[in-house]
Amino acid sequence: MKKTFKGATLMYPLPAVMVSCGRGDEANIITIAWTGIINSEPPMTYVSVRPSRHSHDIIEKEGEFVINMTSEDLVYEMDYAGCTSGAKVNKWEKLGLTKEPADKVACPMIKESPLNLECRVVDIKRLPSHDMFMAEIVAVHADESLLNENGRLALERAGLVSLVHSGYHKCNQKMLGKMGYSVMKPSTKKRLAREGKRVGGAKPHKAGK
Ligand SMILES: Cc1cc2nc3c(=O)[nH]c(=O)nc-3n(C[C@H](O)[C@H](O)[C@H](O)COP(=O)(O)O)c2cc1C
Repeated sequence: MKKTFKGATLMYPLPAVMVSCGRGDEANIITIAWTGIINSEPPMTYVSVRPSRHSHDIIEKEGEFVINMTSEDLVYEMDYAGCTSGAKVNKWEKLGLTKEPADKVACPMIKESPLNLECRVVDIKRLPSHDMFMAEIVAVHADESLLNENGRLALERAGLVSLVHSGYHKCNQKMLGKMGYSVMKPSTKKRLAREGKRVGGAKPHKAGK
């Protein structure tokens, strides 16, 4: 049996990220959960921002922002940036976060964040409650601690945080399966295991019945 609800934004987990925007004294941070990837080539993302947010007009004016991913040790900062307005408080100072110059955009990145995505707005879709800023991801910065011995990104090391309904969760607790594992050849699984790479192996849902 299932209980039916009216339409709602019940899609979780979602990333809970800190978006930095603006330049100089105007630079601000807003927490955003309405975000995701919308295109591969070029890499594109979006952030949906209510027009009432202080950051909204800054992003619209500058046409740029940085998505700073939240790691476990930045949960407090992420929550605070989502509960206070830059119109009233300087969140950088209040939280002791460090502005780090970005490569391609003028707004600062959050140095303490392990993964920063520089974004340039390419379109704005006006929706009933939010404006959706669609943007190209023009550069990415990853902390060196997230690189494995082969120099490849091992993002699961970051302990990135997601939002599930109204709670924050660390999302590298247990890898249930590597992308494509359900159709992976046994020889590939063996090779990956030899190389010390995790494949995971959650069984089909019906297997346990
Ligand atoms: C976890 C979390 C997620 C949020 N996601 C969004 C979002 O996707 N879009 C939005 O407009 N506001 C979102 N908010 C609310 C803003 O972050 C909040 O209103 C913030 O104070 C706005 O800051 P500003 O006025 O300095 O721009 C979220 C808040 C939290 C705590």
